Amino acid sequence: MRHFLTLRDFTKEEILEIIDIGLEIKKNLKAGIYKEELKNQTLAMIFEKSSTRTRVSFETGMFQLGGHALFLSNRDIHLGRGEPVKDTARVISSMCDMVMIRTFEHSMIEEFASFSKVPVINGLTDSFHPVQLLADYMTLVEYGMQHNLVAAYVGDGNNMTHSWMMLAAKLGFDLRVATPKGYEVDQDVLQTALNIAKDSGAKITFGNDPKEAVQGATVVTTDTWASMGQEDEKEQRIKDFKGYMVDEAMMSLAASGAKFLHCLPAYRGQEVSEALLEKHSEIVFNEAENRLHAQKGLMVWLNKQKVN
Ligand code: CP
Ligand code: NVA
Repeated sequence: MRHFLTLRDFTKEEILEIIDIGLEIKKNLKAGIYKEELKNQTLAMIFEKSSTRTRVSFETGMFQLGGHALFLSNRDIHLGRGEPVKDTARVISSMCDMVMIRTFEHSMIEEFASFSKVPVINGLTDSFHPVQLLADYMTLVEYGMQHNLVAAYVGDGNNMTHSWMMLAAKLGFDLRVATPKGYEVDQDVLQTALNIAKDSGAKITFGNDPKEAVQGATVVTTDTWASMGQEDEKEQRIKDFKGYMVDEAMMSLAASGAKFLHCLPAYRGQEVSEALLEKHSEIVFNEAENRLHAQKGLMVWLNKQKVN
């Protein structure tokens, strides 16, 4: 049995296999073919933070695979009023076949997984958002952008940045990260990514100059300046992130034909301009839709590991 907590725990081959399964499932869905590969199974979804895409994609995906998903907000279950994580894990995993968790501390999901009898999927923690990167890379494959990939991440050193670093390190592509001073990535994650990159040949660089990062990039991406849980810092961050908006001028420094990705929700006029987002809306909303297909691929893959 395997959990899906960060991409660190997966090989390049496994990541590409999950994405391939997702692409096949997407093709079938578009042709009206539904394979009930998780018939009679249930996915418990614990949300300690808000979500549009993650909730809708996991719930819809589970239904389309012949299973059922339970939406459990921390306002509704005892976890939110003090029942220990380890007890919640033992109870839920004795009844459900898979668990997806969106929470704050990454250690919570690790503790849950260590007590769970069924696969646990990270639906976002303060440190990582790996399911988003499955959808992002699937999108790049669909657009033929996976070859000679040079990605630039411009913005906050957050869960999305960390996940891009892990993906680049595992798959061996180039990633330039530009964050404002004081908003750099976590140093432990950085060291882990650089160590993995030694084997894969990925070139991952860090700096404080967004224009330098974007120069010649084939894919440019960003994320909100104030993540969930950082609402109180929003005003300060808007000041500190001056010059970090990805707009048409910044994008013009990228390689010709470069694509823009955004995990959404997007804050227009902050990390991305309205015009740039709308110009790249076709790929960005395909990226959002791919959450459904990539996560179905992931759940089918995790289920196969259980059986094997
Ligand atoms: N990108 C993403 O995870 O979106 P939600 O917060 O809406 O789930
Ligand atoms: N960094 C953002 C991602 C949202 C999908 C957050 O954690 O709020």
